[in-house]
Amino acid sequence: MRLTGLIRIAAMLFSLGTAWLFVQTYFNTGWKVVSLRSWLGSESDLPKTQPPRNKCGNKKSCPESTFAFKVSSGAANVVGPSICFENTIIMSGVKNNVGRGLNIALLNGTNGQVMKTDVFDMYSGDIKLLLDFLKAIKSGTIVTVASYDDPATKLNDEARTLFTNLGSRHASKLAFRDNWIFIGAKGLKDKSPYEQHLRNEAAKNKYEGWPEVLEMEGCVPKKMD
Ligand SMILES: *[C@@H]1O[C@H](CO)[C@@H](O)[C@H](O)[C@H]1NC(C)=O
Repeated sequence: MRLTGLIRIAAMLFSLGTAWLFVQTYFNTGWKVVSLRSWLGSESDLPKTQPPRNKCGNKKSCPESTFAFKVSSGAANVVGPSICFENTIIMSGVKNNVGRGLNIALLNGTNGQVMKTDVFDMYSGDIKLLLDFLKAIKSGTIVTVASYDDPATKLNDEARTLFTNLGSRHASKLAFRDNWIFIGAKGLKDKSPYEQHLRNEAAKNKYEGWPEVLEMEGCVPKKMD
């Protein structure tokens, strides 16, 4: 009898305890009410306020007739440039396919597929490599360029003219340690609107010896045949 009496008391205390816990959890202050709501899933039923992510993480989504892009120049001689096209990062430091000079990606202007990526050292490299690369570009190709460290020391008139013919306004004026990002195309009749150029000017430079990073994002029209 003593034992069952003890068990009865224990059971009573236990149920009192759980009832108290129950009350605490369901009807008492602030956070417990919130935790009840989350148990019932009501929080996940609330409308999502976060907008869907755009291609390349861009601020605006791109129409069907265009490709999304985001291009960044290098930061001084420390952080490499990056090129995102249609939500794929095709050149970056993480991909380990960028380097000092001009970083260039060629894309099929019709379907957006990556045709080729390459890097040309414009400080101590051989300009002939860049000339051969640019001359081989076929009509209908989108050409995306991002500078890193120094885009210009080795650039000669012939190379500058080849970029100008792809739609660049600034290739003729690029100088030592300028920053430059550009999207052009072989066969463009006008100048490209997708270009930024920042001069290396001691008084305005963000970094000692180099200007601020350039970044450009948007939508480039597909080639219509
Ligand atoms: C792009 O791809 C299409 C379809 O595969 C092809 O017909 C066209 O020649 C390509 N364009 C270039 C510039 O290679």
